Amino acid sequence: MMKLRLFLVNSLLWISISLAQQGGGMWIPTELNESEMKQMGMKISAKDIFNPNAPSIKDAIAHFGGGCTSEVISSNGLLLTNHHCGYGQIQSHSTLENDYLKNGFWAMNNSEELPNKGLTATFIVDIKDVTDKILQGVSGEMNEEQRQQFVKSNIEIISKNVVKEAYQDVFIRPFYKGNKYYQFITETYKDVRLVGAPPSAIGNFGMDTDNWSWPRHTGDFSLFRIYADKNNKPAEYSENNVPYKPKHFLPISIKGVKEGDFTFVFGFPGTTDEYLPAIALDQTIKTINPSRIGIRDVALKILSDKMRKDDATRIKYASKYARISNAWKKWRGESLGLTKSEAVKLRQDYETEFNKRVNTKPEWKSSYGNLIKDLNELYTTNESYEIAEIYFDEAIYRNSETFRIALMMQNLLNAKGTAEFDGMKQRYINSLKGLYKDYDADLDQEVSLALIDLYKKNVPVEFLPENAIHINSSTFENSVLTGKQKINGVSISQDVEKAFANNEVLISTLENDPLVQEIGLILKAYEEKVSPKYTAIENQLAQLQRTYMKAQLEVFSDKKFFPDANSTLRVTYGKVDGYKPEDKPRYAAQTYLDGVIAKYIPGDYEFDLPQKLIDMEKSKDYGIYGEGKKKNAKMPVNFIASNHTTGGNSGSPALDKDGNLIGLNFDRVWEGTMSDLHYDASICRNIMVDARYILYIIDKFAGAGYLLNEMKIVK
Ligand code: ARG
Ligand code: GLU
Repeated sequence: MMKLRLFLVNSLLWISISLAQQGGGMWIPTELNESEMKQMGMKISAKDIFNPNAPSIKDAIAHFGGGCTSEVISSNGLLLTNHHCGYGQIQSHSTLENDYLKNGFWAMNNSEELPNKGLTATFIVDIKDVTDKILQGVSGEMNEEQRQQFVKSNIEIISKNVVKEAYQDVFIRPFYKGNKYYQFITETYKDVRLVGAPPSAIGNFGMDTDNWSWPRHTGDFSLFRIYADKNNKPAEYSENNVPYKPKHFLPISIKGVKEGDFTFVFGFPGTTDEYLPAIALDQTIKTINPSRIGIRDVALKILSDKMRKDDATRIKYASKYARISNAWKKWRGESLGLTKSEAVKLRQDYETEFNKRVNTKPEWKSSYGNLIKDLNELYTTNESYEIAEIYFDEAIYRNSETFRIALMMQNLLNAKGTAEFDGMKQRYINSLKGLYKDYDADLDQEVSLALIDLYKKNVPVEFLPENAIHINSSTFENSVLTGKQKINGVSISQDVEKAFANNEVLISTLENDPLVQEIGLILKAYEEKVSPKYTAIENQLAQLQRTYMKAQLEVFSDKKFFPDANSTLRVTYGKVDGYKPEDKPRYAAQTYLDGVIAKYIPGDYEFDLPQKLIDMEKSKDYGIYGEGKKKNAKMPVNFIASNHTTGGNSGSPALDKDGNLIGLNFDRVWEGTMSDLHYDASICRNIMVDARYILYIIDKFAGAGYLLNEMKIVK
């Protein structure tokens, strides 16, 4: 009796754990659970989604610039992605006179489309499991470095021997923490031109206040076009290139969505960490996220004050600010979601169940019996190193431009007298040209000084330089890196090429520069006191996590595991579904244009609107794109669903049961951002621009309706 009760309690506990983890998943497109997808409403087959031997939906999906996702929506290579994914390009073509960020941009024919140096679109041709080949000869006795070396050389050998066309590339990536390896054949197009973008007041409506939140009202899209050589193959930019003819492009459905509809999202999710032990989640909530957030709080406050006062600064810093604030707000939502959903407790229960199962089999017990204990110990040791690492990364490297430049220059000095020096110098000249184009020395000085204060205050003293840090405003005044002192007769921010022309002058100036010297000391302390130990711990953790992943796959063979995101092509599926934040009423899954108008604040930097859109809403003339008739007509704007997405899924198509595009993924709901670490179907939602809103803006707002002629609209 007693035993039975215990058994029941335990199995109930297990049911509640596994239920809490149900849903979600970013699946490899060659290994889809077709029957589950069909059960949820899908009408097409897994082969329609991914088929290496015949045109399939994957032929319309392209990695956009290696970061975002994009999709081909016409027979002439028209490419759809987010406004925030094309932001850098839109900004780079903008000037105070021709402010495309502010006013939008629309090419009215092919010749008006704008080339973008360095922008690429990569298609996946084939995916293959090559685990056996990559792990051939790898043995349990190897230490982590030996294993890494071995795997690396196997990858090189296998990649070299892959049968592929000359214009194709190949890469091999680890999955399931290195328990599996997959090979990808790709085709990368290098001539991708800007076709259209709405004004930021539509494309980034609500900006940071609305970012990562629902209800949402943003037209976050932009249009590009892929160009190919005359054989339809990848080629560098050339006037003679022609619009790309895809093997498949996505038809766009204007039939609309309703709650409960099946949807799937196809794209390139960047990074997730779904299989961390409870202690790592706990550290994320208690120390890791608060450190990152605190540093960015300081940088963002200084940047936003100046950007609001000065238009030139706003344009220069728009893209950088958006990048810094985006992760900042995400981390806050993530911590909130993890806390609310009691993720740490759930993960502890999971570990208890894991250990219980492990103890039922002697061979599991001997290989996996100490795993959770070892992970706990190692994460505990790691914590202070992790914090030091975050401070170095966030305060010195990422959020101060001048410190980052000083780090590069220190690196260059370290290469003095070696064969690498000249090549490195040339690379730095190129990146510095870009950096100084949008650099405001006084503003960055203010940010940097505030960051260095935090660094001194919060990095454990054992990790700081011996003689303390002496960076103050005169360090900046007396440095050539800020452009306030000349080098080789010029200011570096005006003419990097000339400033770097003479190696002797360059080296002696940099060696005597107060900022390069100070940052050099910080770097030295970091490299001696943090980095080696941190790297060693990370290696040990990688090994433990790999074993833990292997163990979970064996011990929970009743559960389906998806591999963590790693910027490779994935499919995630779910249903259109509203959601209910704990302290608020339930929100419907769809928003409308009247909601955009309700948020309108004239002249506001986040919630202003173009007069034309306001007039269009008044007229209620939504054509074929709206819902309802006449007076009651409504224009759909955004919708949410339970697709499990992450950064990199921006610009991914949301498809319906028939494989037609119904939405454009661009965000997640706030607490739902915890899905990078812990997916909970009751909270996690992805946010999409309704395809009808995109067409409406192109057609009626921009007057670029000619673009619709090349698309296939499903009514
Ligand atoms: N949160 C979305 C993503 O991670 C959108 C970011 C762009 N928008 C912004 N306001 N920063 O990319
Ligand atoms: N906006 C994100 C991106 O740039 C997608 C949203 C998310 O992280 O879910 O990829």
